[in-house]
Amino acid sequence: MKETEIDWSNLPFSYMKTDYNVRCTYKDGKWGEIEVSDSEYIPLHIAASCLHYGQESFEGLKAFRGKDGKVRVFRMDENARRFIRSAEGVKMQPLPEEIFCEMVRKVVKLNERFVPPYGTGASLYIRPLEIGISPRVGVSPATEYTVIMLVTPVGPYFKTGFKPTKVCLSREYDRVAPKGTGSIKVGGNYGASLVAGEKAHELGYSVMLYLDPKEKKYIDECGAANFFGIKDNTYITPASESILPSITNKSLRELARDLGIKVEERHITLEELPTFEEVGACGTAAVISPVGEIDDIDTGEKYVFSKNGEVGPVSTLLYNKLRGIQYGDEPDTHGWCEIID
Ligand code: PLP
Ligand code: COI
Repeated sequence: MKETEIDWSNLPFSYMKTDYNVRCTYKDGKWGEIEVSDSEYIPLHIAASCLHYGQESFEGLKAFRGKDGKVRVFRMDENARRFIRSAEGVKMQPLPEEIFCEMVRKVVKLNERFVPPYGTGASLYIRPLEIGISPRVGVSPATEYTVIMLVTPVGPYFKTGFKPTKVCLSREYDRVAPKGTGSIKVGGNYGASLVAGEKAHELGYSVMLYLDPKEKKYIDECGAANFFGIKDNTYITPASESILPSITNKSLRELARDLGIKVEERHITLEELPTFEEVGACGTAAVISPVGEIDDIDTGEKYVFSKNGEVGPVSTLLYNKLRGIQYGDEPDTHGWCEIID
């Protein structure tokens, strides 16, 4: 597709073919050279461990074009380290951080024409993934692995963008088990969330908000994003073993502290929900998605945080600060962005 034909300002969050992807394979006890491919397909053994036993993990990070034309990638070292933890969590060979970062630089450079123009609100989503490729019929880890990084230009994850969205909660669904794989980014977690996610969509909600899988007492994960609530100049987000430690959430906590907002990482009960002045979901795809209403579909209880489509002041401040750093409009005082040239 020619970049002049792309409607950058109205991009959905979906796949679009770009020019190249990069790949790296672990074989005979070592990682090989980074390879460049223009194919959207991979040759795969029919008994590959990723197909049968879910030996798969992935990441999600973004590149942004600034007013100065430069392309910035946000906190790739954090994604590299989480990719290692995810691999270890399903007994895959972890990809060294240096190779991860080199692959990110390469795949962004090779697809530079797909980095959306400044001012469109869009970005280039980078999707690394790792799979076990050795044939396995007995349940055991592979000895060979492939990492692939593909990119695709994207717009907002929730159709509402930076406008309040409605989510629902139910005790009928768990995304993950209490001591399971919730804190790593493996495909199985997302497969396991599809029934609940589709249920939420059928009922007209953006996502399912999960309660903690052990006691069903505390707010856990908000679809494929972390949850936060704001009250009394405090940013409050769940402390939980079953949520993914979000890099966006970590960044927002650091920005909140910079701005003199207090930060608490702790359990949040359902009873506390009505006390929040603002509520939101955060993540690479979700950025900050303000939550205007949470409906408990088991009890019929409704928690309303925004009546007239307005976004609260703290969420707005944090959103502008984060976007400002990512697009190069604000000084990157934490050194979070790497310029790709
Ligand atoms: N929680 C889940 C389940 C996710 O899939 C994601 C997305 O990566 C997040 C939270 C947000 O994490 P991050 O901010 O690192 O993208
Ligand atoms: C992300 O925020 O990068 C995600 O992983 C969310 C979803 C697209 C899986």
